[in-house]
Amino acid sequence: MKLIVFLLVFLPVTESVKHSLTYFLTASSGLQTFPEFEAVLAFDGVQVGHCDSISKRAEPRQDWVKKLNEDKPENVDWHTNRCIAIHQFSKAITEKIQQHFNQTGGVHFFQEISSCERDDKTGEVGGYQQYGYDGETFILLDLKNQRWVYTEQAVTFKPMWDQRNALLNYNIKFLNGDCIQWLNMYLEYGNSSLQRKVRPSVSLLQKSPSSPVSCHATGFYPDRATMFWRKDGEKLHEDVDHGEILPNHDGTFQMRVDLNISSIKPEDWRRYDCVFNLSGVDDIVIKLDKAVIRTNWVPPSQVPVGAVVGVVVGLMLLSVCITGLFIWWKNNNNRGRWSCFKLS
Ligand SMILES: *[C@@H]1O[C@H](CO)[C@@H](O)[C@H](O)[C@H]1NC(C)=O
Ligand SMILES: *[C@@H]1O[C@H](CO)[C@@H](O)[C@H](O)[C@H]1NC(C)=O
Ligand SMILES: *[C@@H]1O[C@H](CO)[C@@H](O)[C@H](O)[C@H]1NC(C)=O
Ligand SMILES: *[C@@H]1O[C@H](CO)[C@@H](O)[C@H](O)[C@H]1NC(C)=O
Repeated sequence: MKLIVFLLVFLPVTESVKHSLTYFLTASSGLQTFPEFEAVLAFDGVQVGHCDSISKRAEPRQDWVKKLNEDKPENVDWHTNRCIAIHQFSKAITEKIQQHFNQTGGVHFFQEISSCERDDKTGEVGGYQQYGYDGETFILLDLKNQRWVYTEQAVTFKPMWDQRNALLNYNIKFLNGDCIQWLNMYLEYGNSSLQRKVRPSVSLLQKSPSSPVSCHATGFYPDRATMFWRKDGEKLHEDVDHGEILPNHDGTFQMRVDLNISSIKPEDWRRYDCVFNLSGVDDIVIKLDKAVIRTNWVPPSQVPVGAVVGVVVGLMLLSVCITGLFIWWKNNNNRGRWSCFKLS
């Protein structure tokens, strides 16, 4: 955790010129409440398309993507075909993996992330791909050396997976070819929408009077924002916990930074504030003040029998997890995280 905080605080914030197109695929078994297969397409971190085993059709998620689809129906056809093909592929793979682990029944997830990116300045292209099972990364595609890489949990897959040369070659070709071609098309149509700046609403949330105070910003765009706590105008590095930037359904983002208030004296509260910073819009500053904190907390004596507390934080997670089983992916390092599994 310390390391993550360190990286967030000290990484130089540069205006990135990289664009990415990312496919998130989730196949699940043993769950009634979710489709057997779901695919989400994200451009620069914003959901632009969706397909699942019920609709069996690639559907746009932004207005500018509807325009793209009208002009280029091949975009819809290609993604619909790929959705159906990958559904079958992931079903077959899930069965293979279950056999491998001698699993009969139960709830299991198979996931794939494929992403290509292009640097606007240098024109350099790249990408990555990885497979996960039950929330763990299993197999990664090493695009540079054109080979599979296995994590510790998956070394026993090597004999079976190393034979998948056709899949390896297909994926390399896809990441360097079609994926980049779609990326360029999404960039062309999304350009003006991508230039916009949207200010979020920022609020302070707290589960109980002793919990950390969460400074929560939602509804901002683009995702290149920073948020931090200050004391007497100085940025705090201790007693803070930075959450990841997560996508909202409408193409905007949310994030939070928690401040551990356990050692802050009541008379010192007014010395603290939370700052949301997005280049191109004015900073949003909110003072640490009991009067503005939103909470669902009820003193224990007043809690009706069976009432469940923690709704505020619960809702924050739910709004993120509801689109699917996977959720967000931060490619901070090669392993990244399949967040939603760990949360639920
Ligand atoms: C699965 O079962 C077979 C035969 O019972 C056994 O040899 C194998 O080690 C088991 N595999 C795992 C991953 O438990
Ligand atoms: C996006 O729009 C800006 C200004 O509106 C323009 O300078 C830029 O070339 C456009 N980029 C692409 C990829 O169309
Ligand atoms: C807050 O800080 C105190 C000590 O300063 C520590 O005991 C406690 O575990 C921290 N709480 C959280 C949620 O990190
Ligand atoms: C917000 O960010 C801009 C540029 O990224 C920077 O110049 C400014 O100082 C930041 N504001 C604060 C309060 O850190």
